[in-house]
Amino acid sequence: MNEDLLIMIPGPTGLPPEVREALARPQMGHRTPEFAELIADCTAGLQYLFRTTNDLLILTASGTGGMEAAVTNFLSPGDPVLAVSVGNFGERLGAIAETFGADVTWIKSEWGEPADVDLVGRTLAAGTWKALLFTQNETSTSITNPVEELSALARQAGALTIVDAISGMGGTPVLTDEWGLDVVVAGSQKALMLPPGLAFVSVSEKAWLASETATMPRFYFDLKKAKASLEKGQTPYTPNTSLFVALQASLNLIRAKGIENVWRRHAECAQIIRDGVARLGLKPFGDRRYASNVVTAFCPPEGVDPKAIIGHMREKHNILITGAQGAYRGRFLRIGHLGTIDRGQCERVLAALEETLKAART
Ligand SMILES: Cc1ncc(COP(=O)(O)O)c(C=O)c1O
Repeated sequence: MNEDLLIMIPGPTGLPPEVREALARPQMGHRTPEFAELIADCTAGLQYLFRTTNDLLILTASGTGGMEAAVTNFLSPGDPVLAVSVGNFGERLGAIAETFGADVTWIKSEWGEPADVDLVGRTLAAGTWKALLFTQNETSTSITNPVEELSALARQAGALTIVDAISGMGGTPVLTDEWGLDVVVAGSQKALMLPPGLAFVSVSEKAWLASETATMPRFYFDLKKAKASLEKGQTPYTPNTSLFVALQASLNLIRAKGIENVWRRHAECAQIIRDGVARLGLKPFGDRRYASNVVTAFCPPEGVDPKAIIGHMREKHNILITGAQGAYRGRFLRIGHLGTIDRGQCERVLAALEETLKAART
């Protein structure tokens, strides 16, 4: 166990002391008034984070479980669905819909590009659609999509929006109600500064209406059951109570700071990393107009293997950064800057990267 490792990947993130302390507390019963109070407070805190008055359900699952819930509760096999993918996680959301039998049409951007809003608009207008699926912040490419525009188009077309905001929630604005997002998914191990293991799903009235007739199979991820249990201060199945205690601690930290200030800190840190990477002569990966405030992707110098950079950063500087996924494996590097991120950590990672590049060139 390396206690001093600086985790600079796009989740899991480092944990603040308050969260670590919460995780060490004794267990509690999950059918108790104490848990009922805890889940009510966590739900309200998440609604604050999501900027919503919609129902908010907490699942003991990784983010992908939340994505599966977001698809299977609102769609039926054969439903025409438009999946907009700009990277690995967009592919996953559409693949879940395909797995459960939706009739999926894909619009895929080149990695590093945002969603093609014009094409999405034309495609939606030319057909009848049950839902538009897309990623708010594409972690694999460090691109934040124009969510508000995509949502407006979906509403015009009468389609539900099912949005993966797993890596952006908490670190970047996701204005669920203002933007009219129907189903939004987030996860614990990103800007919420928690270990992996909880997924959060917000559900609009319109989405609940759709769920009345949605026939995709579901059991563990049945959100109607989750809502009925929540009304009794419970969850349908045994929740990870330790993570709920930690979630409350994390939400208290965020609420005390104010979400706008947390977004601002993420934006400032992202700018420091982007500027620092450019100063080191490294080429950014992707369209910088849509650059993410929680993760930055950039290309290694010509002839330098990203794996060597990641290895040197880890061994000599005790800093964990990561590479590219899928078809782009080995082509670029990614630094996560979310959760507990601050200016000092950004400067430490940039200084280490500078030394690492010098070592790679000699
Ligand atoms: C945008 C996005 N979607 C989905 C996931 C999948 O979440 P999990 O690995 O918690 O299942 C991730 C995880 O990195 C992500 O960044």
